[in-house]
Amino acid sequence: MSGHGDPIPMMSRKAGPLHGVAHVPGDKSISHRSLILGALSVGETRITGLLEGQDVLDTARAMRAFGAELADHGGGEWSVHGVGTGGFAEPEQVIDCGNSGTGVRLIMGAMATCPISATFTGDASLCARPMARVTDPLALFGARAHGRRGGRLPMTITGAADPVPVRYVVPVPSAQVKSAVLLAGLNAPGQTVVIEREATRDHTERMLVGFGAELTVEDTDEGRVITLTGQPELRAQDIVVPRDPSSAAFPVCAALIVEGSDVLVPNIGLNPTRAGLFTTLQEMGADLTFENPREEGGEPVADLRAKFSPDLKGIEVPPERAASMIDEYPVLSVVAAFAEGPTVMRGVRELRVKESDRIDAMAQGLRKAGVEVEEGEDWWIVHGRGFGNVSGGMTVESRLDHRIAMSFLVLGLASEKPVSVDDGGPIATSFPVFEPLMAALGARVERANH
Ligand code: S3P
Repeated sequence: MSGHGDPIPMMSRKAGPLHGVAHVPGDKSISHRSLILGALSVGETRITGLLEGQDVLDTARAMRAFGAELADHGGGEWSVHGVGTGGFAEPEQVIDCGNSGTGVRLIMGAMATCPISATFTGDASLCARPMARVTDPLALFGARAHGRRGGRLPMTITGAADPVPVRYVVPVPSAQVKSAVLLAGLNAPGQTVVIEREATRDHTERMLVGFGAELTVEDTDEGRVITLTGQPELRAQDIVVPRDPSSAAFPVCAALIVEGSDVLVPNIGLNPTRAGLFTTLQEMGADLTFENPREEGGEPVADLRAKFSPDLKGIEVPPERAASMIDEYPVLSVVAAFAEGPTVMRGVRELRVKESDRIDAMAQGLRKAGVEVEEGEDWWIVHGRGFGNVSGGMTVESRLDHRIAMSFLVLGLASEKPVSVDDGGPIATSFPVFEPLMAALGARVERANH
């Protein structure tokens, strides 16, 4: 079932080569943060290229509920009139974050040091995901959380009326947890210190500096030490959101495995904390080039060109790269199925607590497609069958997970027989134009009953 309506069965099948230019939507992580930091600033933040996927729209609605004024000017142009650090008002209604772990966890952080209460909920996927990883550090500031057993949504957070600053070593590699603590630290007096042993996406740090916060980052033996000075006056910004490398992954990977393809994906954010997939694909022998590398809005960007790559080889993906490609393992496993030999992915326990258990979801579907997969708690191995040898011909469950749905639809573009997905509805959370964009490249991705 889709979280936002009736299921949308979808199907993909082999067609001619993929050709053309794919303008993928704005970055999801940066879009959420633009709205939240805009809401915590003084003045008008103007955003260009906002991702208007359901996840981000749910965050926009939440920011209105906390008192910010948001205007949608059309075409991804938004403006936000913020309430200032610590200025959130108590929402009158339950905050429904839909499918979005980023939305709910960052917003919980942002309100945890305000003297208000808020109740959060989401769809069946989000209500099954762990929230204690965020509420544990928020308790150190003085916030209280009451949720369901196991720290699950729905959950009420009562913010700290007299917050104290915190020093916190993040126990799991999670940018959401790091960001929740930093956003809470904004309204605590003194210095909040967050230490991460493995570097995760650093958009929150970069954007906080852009909005005028005092924040330093130091690489030490303990890890990345981030020090934020609390109670800054955040100043409204003009933000240009780069296009999402995690969305670019789908047309890029499709081009690699569909014979004769040549696809250009312009303006992709290539922050090193996000670009691990592209390094991995190049190590596998993918024909991938980065054209016009440049910097936009404080983030490195380039135009990516991907061409059909018939001689892909399985590799061992270094575990220390996992955080920089955590959302891309599902589609990597599809490319791995078309490579020669095993692709080994270790250090990926976090995949089990995403929108779905992504190792299980992909392993089950790949096996149905005729691909051998081995798995353990924090590792999996896809035994590639080589180009032209993946049978397909199965129906898979998307499990309320956009990336599972899109990954299997990409597989169906190159497998012998078509692939069906029980519900493509979740794709709208991050990539609402997936279907027309893929169709314009020449792919056959369709709603099954049309
Ligand atoms: C995100 C962080 C990642 C990622 C998610 C977006 C973010 O989650 O999977 O899609 O914007 O901070 P974790 O931080 O939990 O790994």
